Amino acid sequence: MRIGVLTGGGDCPGLNAVIRAVVRKGVAEYGHEFIGFRDGWRGPLEAKTMPLGIPEVRGILPRGGTILRSSRTNPFKVDGGVEKVRANLSELEVDALIAIGGEDTLGVAKKLTDLDIPVVGVPKTIDNDLGATDYTFGFDTAVNIASEAIDRLHTTAESHHRCVVVEVMGRHAGWIALHSGLAGGANAILVPERRFSVAEVVGFVESRFRTDFSPIIVVAEGAQPIEGEMVTQNAELDAFGHVRLGGVGQWLSDQIEKETGKESRAVVLGHVQRGGTPTAFDRVLATRFGLHAIDAVHEGDFGKMVALRGTDIVRVKLEEATAELKTVPQERLDEAKIFFG
Ligand code: F6P
Repeated sequence: MRIGVLTGGGDCPGLNAVIRAVVRKGVAEYGHEFIGFRDGWRGPLEAKTMPLGIPEVRGILPRGGTILRSSRTNPFKVDGGVEKVRANLSELEVDALIAIGGEDTLGVAKKLTDLDIPVVGVPKTIDNDLGATDYTFGFDTAVNIASEAIDRLHTTAESHHRCVVVEVMGRHAGWIALHSGLAGGANAILVPERRFSVAEVVGFVESRFRTDFSPIIVVAEGAQPIEGEMVTQNAELDAFGHVRLGGVGQWLSDQIEKETGKESRAVVLGHVQRGGTPTAFDRVLATRFGLHAIDAVHEGDFGKMVALRGTDIVRVKLEEATAELKTVPQERLDEAKIFFG
């Protein structure tokens, strides 16, 4: 078989580990051939390819990003896009595709499978918000980066008797905020799932200052206050069709300064959380996803996505992959409350 591989959407530590596992097992065990599609779905759409074999995947396991590059191109939003994809796959003699991506990339994979273009999906997002899998690779790396940043911010905040508001990624779900906040000993964790009260946060900040320790507030980029309007700026699509968030950290920090009379700083971790080498956990998860994805392709089990359930890798239908967003449940927030203030 000749199999095309692509990575779509925002990048994520562990993408290269998936690609490597797919190619290593596909070549060594099944004798398949591979072709790399560049820039997500733009690859099959515009026939943008690169060689993908054992030499290309050598040494990429610890590398962040994706050797295939990525984009948020959606062939269903391009005139005649699906026909172009079909024609290019036929021209390049590609029998099947492995698409590694989040909600959007897997949504395209599902629709193409329905149109008899055989695809197997691999889930990825640092946000860990895909309902069909217990974890996605990239999340553990992001949490480790954010936790280390919080550790560092504790010491500088204390030296200056300041509050620090750390804004982490998480547009719809607060998993990174919850886990990094718990690991880093935050005094409040604010997530998109539940509007926060500025008055309550100010209360936490004041009580923390009373113990002569400096407060650290972790806020997910999609979190919103109860009071007033949505504070997220630039929430509209930008010129490239991407959602631009950011702003809630600075906004909250300003509110805290105003209400408490204490100095506060906002730190936006941004894409630092997505770059660089994956943790060992993410390398192992990504590798296992890759090994199981090539098995699915070899068996002709298309329209499926590999997923983690407990400690097992299973296959679920692609429609399940994109059906439900996995948000932080109330119990997980309540659990963390003992550390607030
Ligand atoms: O979906 C993952 C994510 O990291 C979100 O948390 C964030 O809002 C978004 O990607 C930002 O991606 P980009 O800046 O690449 O559009």
